[in-house]
Amino acid sequence: PVIYIITPTYTRPVQKAELTRQVSTFLHVPNLHWILVEDSPKRTALVSELLLKSGLNCTHLSTETPHSYKPRGPSRDSHIPRGTMQRNLALKWLRETFQQNSQQQGVVYFADDDNTYSLELFEEIRATHKVSVWPVAFVGGLRYESPKINVFGKVYGWKTVFDPHRPFAIDMAGFAINLQLILSKPQAYFRFRGVKGGYQESSLLRELVTLQDLEPKAANCTKVLVWHTRTEKPVLVNEGKKGFTDPNIEI
Ligand code: UGA
Ligand code: MN
Repeated sequence: PVIYIITPTYTRPVQKAELTRQVSTFLHVPNLHWILVEDSPKRTALVSELLLKSGLNCTHLSTETPHSYKPRGPSRDSHIPRGTMQRNLALKWLRETFQQNSQQQGVVYFADDDNTYSLELFEEIRATHKVSVWPVAFVGGLRYESPKINVFGKVYGWKTVFDPHRPFAIDMAGFAINLQLILSKPQAYFRFRGVKGGYQESSLLRELVTLQDLEPKAANCTKVLVWHTRTEKPVLVNEGKKGFTDPNIEI
């Protein structure tokens, strides 16, 4: 199966660094197709060039989150999830590209541009029949969050402090979905409006599976193979002083 990686990304000083780290990881993964969706009205030259140089198998899309829904700015609202419209566009692209009768075998994974991914993760998720799940480090105020696994190897709940009664109390980085399942449920998208913080993942997964369907990976969810790292915003207070620095130099 091909691993389809869906990444929302937006223009900011660390963007090229983040995408460079992802390229360095993905180059080690066979049969990977990267669907990169920019949160911008048009695809940017910076991202186009980076993808071209990477040699990776890519699809480059863009769609801009309406300004009223941007996480920053005057109308900041913690209920407005980041990257949602971009992930939904990628789901639409998959459904348009592979018609429902397509036999393409694949697995879909939502990989944000700032997380840290082990290579083992990709081999774990390649065999995903419906939805596979595993622990994610540095989320929900914990060293890691994890699905709870019973003696039969089935998921029966969530080891989280933040709202463990969510239908799927799992971070975006903690699950992968079989492509055929996505094609067979053409109405399943992330909900954009009226989704409480931490419920974005559930809004999609509840359309696709029940708890009983989940397939634990990473040694029955005892290993951490992905880290929800967040890059510090660089301090650029000296920019613009005494002609520093050359704006024509891409960073
Ligand atoms: C957490 C989750 O890990 C995300 O999957 C989830 O989308 C997010 O919360 C949320 O629901 O708001 P966090 O680290 O806070 O993630 O979010 P970011 O990494 O800043 O953003 C998630 C993705 O969306 C990133 O790939 C980022 O590049 C992209 N993004 C962010 C945009 O495309 N546009 C934006 O305006 C902001
Ligand atoms: Mn993040």
